[in-house]
Parts: sequence; structure tokens; C-alpha cells
Amino acid sequence: MHPMINIAVRAARAAGSILLRYSDRIDSLNITTKHRNDFVTEVDRAAEQAIIQVLQNAYPDHAILCEESGLHKGNDFQWVIDPLDGTTNYLHGFPQFSVSIALKHKGVLEHGVVYDPLREEMFTASRGAGALLNDRRLRVSVRKRLEGALLGTGIPYRDQSQLDAYLGMLRDLIKDAAGVRRPGSAALDFAYVAAGRLDGFWEIGLSEWDLAAGALLVKEAGGVVSDISGGDRYLETGNVIAGSLKLHAEMVKIIRPHLTDHLRA
Ligand code: IPD
Ligand code: CA
Ligand code: CA
Repeated sequence: MHPMINIAVRAARAAGSILLRYSDRIDSLNITTKHRNDFVTEVDRAAEQAIIQVLQNAYPDHAILCEESGLHKGNDFQWVIDPLDGTTNYLHGFPQFSVSIALKHKGVLEHGVVYDPLREEMFTASRGAGALLNDRRLRVSVRKRLEGALLGTGIPYRDQSQLDAYLGMLRDLIKDAAGVRRPGSAALDFAYVAAGRLDGFWEIGLSEWDLAAGALLVKEAGGVVSDISGGDRYLETGNVIAGSLKLHAEMVKIIRPHLTDHLRA
């Protein structure tokens, strides 16, 4: 395993143990509202600090972009961190959340780690070296058509300006798919596509820290990740489609008629 992945795994475990430690006293957590339906707790912050500490000990010159504390400037290496992906689930005791850590070099994704501390599942990927779940190599599913496919998605709950467009996509994808799931941690949704547990995934309005590590997992597991129009600007737009080659192409085709000017941009 690449030394940088080892450090990222160590950081993810440190954050994961904080998430587990606080999880039996959710009711006494200090919760603040960032925006409508957007919460941050002392757990998000404590987990983020634990990650930063591990990364800065190993690589003091690297830049770090974090969901809660923003950008810590540095050299051409930049870590992209979501210390708790699935805060709403976490606050409700709904057992689906993760830690997401990616490393970019000069803007190119090099390494990604998504960690589910409840199931002790560590998903890792390095560019050109494949993706793993713990020690097992991952491949996206072999399903070629939407018929029978299990899809993951995220339903917009903060910015609802694109809700009608989203519901149009959902309606058309539901027609053929075997089922659509909304698990609530985008990073894990990507990891599940990489593992073949979901055949495809789409969501609009994500942030870079929700998807950077997960997107690399899917690609390194042999899948395709694009923005919502089928292009490669998903890190910037946060509007994303992921799946195996054929299924991804089918999803792009079904989603396309529902794109608004805002989503096409
Ligand atoms: C959220 C989760 C969710 C997705 C949201 C994200 P957070 O991240 O990934 O699945 O639908 O768009 O913001 O706020 O829990 O870190
Ligand atoms: Ca997130
Ligand atoms: Ca988060």
C-alpha cells in the first residue's frame, strides 16, 4: 500500500473512533445549524481535528481542504476531507455514515479512503493501482442494462431549486430499475458502486469533499464517473453520475432531457 494511503487510513480510523465514541450520546451533542437542514456538531469538528493532526504530522507542507474548517494552505498536494459524511443520519442514530479523505496532486485525484466505522469497512483506492475493501479487490457490477439494476441517489434537501428536475430524473430511472436507495452518505454510495453493491448512483449539489475519494474508488474499480451531462467537471459542479461503463451511459441518456440550464452549466 502506498505510504500516503497508510496515513490516510490512520487518519480515517482516528476520526472513526471519535464518531463511534460520541454515537451513544447523540442527545447531549452541541448542534449548530449552518444553513437550512445543514447541521454541524462538536463530533464533526473533533473528527476533523483528529484527521488534520494525523495528516499534518506526516505531511506538514500539504494543503488541506476541510468541510468544517475550510482551506489550510500548503504545497501542490491537497487533502480533501469530510470528517463525517452523513451527519443527518448520525444525528438520528441511523447507522449509515462515513469518513471521506482524498488526496489530489496538482488537481489530479491520487488517493482516496472512505471508512465506515460501524461495519469496519475501509475502502481505499490509488490512481492506477485499483480499489480495495479492506484487503479485497473491488470491481463495479457487471450489469449492463437498467432493467434489474439497484441505484443509489441523494434527494436534494438543502437547495431545492432543482427539485423538479431531480424528480423528473427519478421518475424516469425508477421505471426500469429494480430499486432506488437513498442511504444518506454520498461517500459510501460511491464506495458501494465500487463494490458492486449498487449498480449506479447519481446526485446533484454535492461538495468536493462528499465525492473526491468516492469518485476515485469507482474509477479504480473499473467504473465511470462523470458530471450530470456526461462530462468530466464533476468535482467542480458537484452534479454526478457513477456506474459501470454501459449502465453509466444509459443513465446519462435518461437524465439528459431533465437538465436545466443551471445543471448543464
Ligand atoms: C451529505 C451526505 C448526503 C448527501 C448530501 C451531503 P454531510 O453530507 O453525503 O448523502 O445527499 O448532499 O451534503 O452534510 O452529511 O457531510
Ligand atoms: Ca458530506
Ligand atoms: Ca460532513
